[in-house]
Amino acid sequence: MFESISTAPTEPILGMLDVFRADNRQYKINLGIGVYQDETGNTPILNSVKQAEALLLDQEINKNYLSIDGLPIFNHYTKQLLFGVNNTIVSNIVARCAQTPGGTSALRVAAEFLLQHTAATRIWISNPSWPNHKNIFQAAGLQVKKYVYYNSIKHTIDFNGMLNSLSQAKASDIVLFHGCCHNPSGMDLSIEQWSELANLTRKKHLLPLFDLSYQGFASSLENDTEGLKIFFLTNSELIICSSYSKMFSLYNERVGACTIVATESDIVNRAFSQIKSIIRTNYSNPPAHGALIVATILGNDRLRSIWERELQHMRERIKKMRMLLVTTLQDKNVQQDFSFINQQNGMFSFSGLTPKQVLKLRHQFGIYLVNSGRINVAGITLNNIEQLCEAIIAVL
Ligand code: LMR
Repeated sequence: MFESISTAPTEPILGMLDVFRADNRQYKINLGIGVYQDETGNTPILNSVKQAEALLLDQEINKNYLSIDGLPIFNHYTKQLLFGVNNTIVSNIVARCAQTPGGTSALRVAAEFLLQHTAATRIWISNPSWPNHKNIFQAAGLQVKKYVYYNSIKHTIDFNGMLNSLSQAKASDIVLFHGCCHNPSGMDLSIEQWSELANLTRKKHLLPLFDLSYQGFASSLENDTEGLKIFFLTNSELIICSSYSKMFSLYNERVGACTIVATESDIVNRAFSQIKSIIRTNYSNPPAHGALIVATILGNDRLRSIWERELQHMRERIKKMRMLLVTTLQDKNVQQDFSFINQQNGMFSFSGLTPKQVLKLRHQFGIYLVNSGRINVAGITLNNIEQLCEAIIAVL
């Protein structure tokens, strides 16, 4: 039965991580997968996480299954992070949240729910987007359409192009938005643009689906949900898929959440029961450890303030490296303008390097970027910046 199976294409991000790990050049640099690295090139376990784990080791009394929708207190804190502590949505139960194994599962659960239980058959994603978006939605059975997002010549958002694409969307289509730190371009929408889009989805009866994987990496926990909050005020229904991989540096614990918002608790509860059925027939119920860590930190004032400082440190280090990349290239007399990189937010920088230049960087210099030219700025350190900039100039 298996003889006729052909090989699947290599996965552009995780697949490249395997190639990077197998590369035995000492000077290699990993700027591919979106994982935070500190000043020494390590992906740290946060101090707040270590302390929460110590508490859990002491206090955890069983390893029983969680509910299908995960840990209630984790889901409560997720809603607080999305909508703010004082927002009535948290107490009024017009939002229900399911803990999921990472943001990827949240997206897959949302896609299956929308296809099976609503009139949606198509989803609009940005061009470019995280490569796995298209695969997840297609695997769930949705038709994937692309909206214009980025002008690669001017290195800006092409907002008119975006509006033009979305004018072709029809009622019940889904539109995927990156809540902040757009992956891969790093270019985020302004408040005015979010408002215009929120009105557009409302008027055209489109379902907004938010991928919020980098909350806290652009400006602050609060500011990074400004776009989302505009949609909440304007649109009656939406879904938010969150990831806790980056915020808490909990990549391999697979912590995420799928939150559904509707106008009435009866509607949201019925929809949520279907989300739970989808989860039960997929991974049954989520793993506990990562969500317990998050809930322990968010429920403890001391740990929470340590974590917020650690998050701020990660954000600021990335910003510094972004600026250093631009100035070091300039200092080395690069013949191209890279100053647009300073306009981008979050972990990624869309460098404008071509796939050919990216391959040359990989083969000749041991520097790994995603083929689209996306650089993980969090992989840049004071130790590798010179080597990186010289290699970029050599391949231009
Ligand atoms: C990335 O874009 O590099 C991250 O979201 C990791 C992943 O799973 O692709």
